[in-house]
Amino acid sequence: MEERPASTLSALEYDPAPESAGLARLREGYGLFIGGAFVEAADGATFETINPATEEPLARVAQAGEADVAAAVAAARRAYDKVWRKTTGAQRSKYLFRIARLIQERSRELAVLESLDNGKPIRESRDIDVPLAAAHFFYYAGWADKLEHAGFGPDPRPLGVAGQIIPWNFPLLMAAWKLAPALAAGNTCVLKPAETTPLSALVLAEILQQAELPDGVVNVVTGDGSTGAALVASPVDKVAFTGSTEVGKVIQRRLAGRPTRLTLELGGKGANIVFDDAPLDEVVEGIVDGIFFNQGHVCCAGSRLLVQESVAEDVLHRLRRRVDQLRVGDPLDKNTDVGAINSAAQLEKIRELTAWGEREGATRYTSPCALPERGYWFAPTVFTDVAQTHRIAREEVFGPVLSVLTFRTPEEAVAKANNTTYGLACGVWSEKGSRTLWVAERLRAGVVWANTYNRFDPASPFGGVRESGFGREGGRHGLEAYLDV
Ligand code: NAI
Ligand code: MG
Repeated sequence: MEERPASTLSALEYDPAPESAGLARLREGYGLFIGGAFVEAADGATFETINPATEEPLARVAQAGEADVAAAVAAARRAYDKVWRKTTGAQRSKYLFRIARLIQERSRELAVLESLDNGKPIRESRDIDVPLAAAHFFYYAGWADKLEHAGFGPDPRPLGVAGQIIPWNFPLLMAAWKLAPALAAGNTCVLKPAETTPLSALVLAEILQQAELPDGVVNVVTGDGSTGAALVASPVDKVAFTGSTEVGKVIQRRLAGRPTRLTLELGGKGANIVFDDAPLDEVVEGIVDGIFFNQGHVCCAGSRLLVQESVAEDVLHRLRRRVDQLRVGDPLDKNTDVGAINSAAQLEKIRELTAWGEREGATRYTSPCALPERGYWFAPTVFTDVAQTHRIAREEVFGPVLSVLTFRTPEEAVAKANNTTYGLACGVWSEKGSRTLWVAERLRAGVVWANTYNRFDPASPFGGVRESGFGREGGRHGLEAYLDV
């Protein structure tokens, strides 16, 4: 067999293996979910959600205005007062278990729908987003009847009505992260999905109907930032937000002086720190997972690689070879590694920041992969010769773009990793446990992974410090955000 350059190897060896789009059971239009029923917006307003891989419209979705948000909050309040606060923990557990089982039953439909609306590879929606969403409901189902053993006193009380605003990078999973602990703790909810990815939350609303969750316990209001702002302005007892640091700050200002509780899960600029004793092939897989998973649309992405100088050349050589083999393209193809960028706006932001990378003097390496003609695409990109002052080293790119910096000593690695306004997640790669612990203790981040990256488990708390926000989701800690403690 003739020798082929590494960059074309993978492209020649796979036939397309597309999942069928029909499994998503798309409808032409989707309504708001208020008081247990699907309804149109009071003023009839709608917006279109598109498939970012093709730029084709997928469906029209109701755009909730102030009146609709008020109706949803009123429905949640009624359900809280009349039904949910009188429901025992054991009964709440049963509903949560049912929801988890139904997510599993409809997992194929949900995975395809999520990949269509978001652009993420089916391999990820099928193996990560949907199973983890079910796992969160299973996990919190287990807590609902044991709250008195959660360490928050003998009889911890819910807060009341929670307004929950989520982003587009993990639409169904973020809905599960928000709803499962809130319901387990005895709250009712109004959920606001992101405007580019509203569909999986609306199918989840159907699942809640199937589970016979009492009317109004969960309401879903779709729309853009104005819908989110209306929810924040309404008489809710708690706001939980995941999204940009910028909007997080706006919400925090809006809630100043109000008794409304707040948790914020915002941006990040995670450092993935590689010491010279780490197993380098595993390291390369960890770097790829850290930054190219979900097109890099990950708040805790390992977007800054800090590699020890003595192995930097070796690591970068292996990394480039691996990046060349990433398959970019049709999100529904089971062989795809990197899917579409979620929106034209996000693609524009990635282009702008990478242009700045070049302008400020970093060296750019872009995978030679072919990109589809239509849709929003960005080839996996690695910047070397990055200085800590460069915008690509400081700002969240939220795309498949890695910035590489080097260090000589553990002290220098820690100083560089902490040189950010964020503090969400970091990774440490070393064979030496004592060194890993020494570094982890000094990193200012909510999560530190050792010899792995982007690993999520419903039992493990997740959240940030500094401009990455406050409050925890997941685990026993995740209950605290929805209890009056
Ligand atoms: P965004 O923060 O505007 O959107 C997140 C959610 O907040 C959406 O549901 C949106 O409709 C809602 N929202 C927007 N304005 C609001 C307001 N004034 N009040 C209440 N809710 C509001 O994020 P966007 O514009 O989609 O992305 C911009 C950048 O933010 C990205 O490039 C990325 O850097 C970062 N981001 C970070 C995320 C994370 O998980 N940490 C998730 C999404 C974006
Ligand atoms: Mg969409």
